[in-house]
Amino acid sequence: MTVNLQSEQIHHQIKQHGGYLPVDIVQELLAKNDMTIDQLLVALMSIIKESAIMPISHFKVGAAVVGATGNIYTGANQEYLSLPLSQAIHAEQSALAMAHLHGETEITKLIASEKPCGHCRQFYYELANGGSLDVVMPDGKIETLSHLLPHAFGPKELGLAGVLLSAASQSLKLKLSSDEELVTHALQAAEKSYAPYSKSYCGAALRARDGKIYRGSYLENAVFNPSLPALQAAFVHVIQSGASFADITEAVIVQCEDGAVNHVAMSEVTLKAVCGAASLQIFAASRR
Ligand code: THU
Ligand code: ZN
Repeated sequence: MTVNLQSEQIHHQIKQHGGYLPVDIVQELLAKNDMTIDQLLVALMSIIKESAIMPISHFKVGAAVVGATGNIYTGANQEYLSLPLSQAIHAEQSALAMAHLHGETEITKLIASEKPCGHCRQFYYELANGGSLDVVMPDGKIETLSHLLPHAFGPKELGLAGVLLSAASQSLKLKLSSDEELVTHALQAAEKSYAPYSKSYCGAALRARDGKIYRGSYLENAVFNPSLPALQAAFVHVIQSGASFADITEAVIVQCEDGAVNHVAMSEVTLKAVCGAASLQIFAASRR
């Protein structure tokens, strides 16, 4: 009974904050339940994985990361019918997208309800503390990322320092200026995006029927394929906030046109498949 009540409160807190449990709630949970942070993280998995969207695998995965602030960011897997499997997002990517969205610049721990797969290990190898990140395995045992991903290929191989989460913001200018609120959100998300390989900085903002706005930034990876598109990052924000894809009526994508790739075609297809009724506006930007 008490456990149920608490899991509802935890869901409520995560939704209210749009994808995280703030440090004061975390401290309260630790004290109230006389738990260590690792015990709390393991216990949270069954609650967090309930936000999974998995019409293809019917397999729920939840994940969480602990930020240097002490906040716990949450995520779950998302699969999309009528899109290629490669468009699906893993729970671990979702949790990192929420840490990025809420401005966390360093994370100290990752946990998932399953052993993180190779794709996710690679995604996290892009962090400044990449190899030394602590990964709490589902049984509570801690491994470093280097142990889980030995002989890794990462940003260094391409002559860069991986700084996912701690990258400086870009200063972007819209080619056609707009003071529309949704466009401003998408522009800010694009400015915070991490695209050191293509320079195609990109942000997405979605508006729901009730007026609430959700956003996501494009996050690249040194080996390219595990990169997280801005639209999917915004979809994670929708679901972690307790809203649903059917609520989304408008979308804006802001893309820097000076880069090597183009997000427009994929964004159109993805939005149509996931939020069929939503309109889409694309705004081009360039670096100042
Ligand atoms: N999945 C994750 O979310 N994380 C992992 O690291 C393992 C796999 C998801 C992806 C897909 O939605 C489902 O689990 C089956 O692979
Ligand atoms: Zn994975």
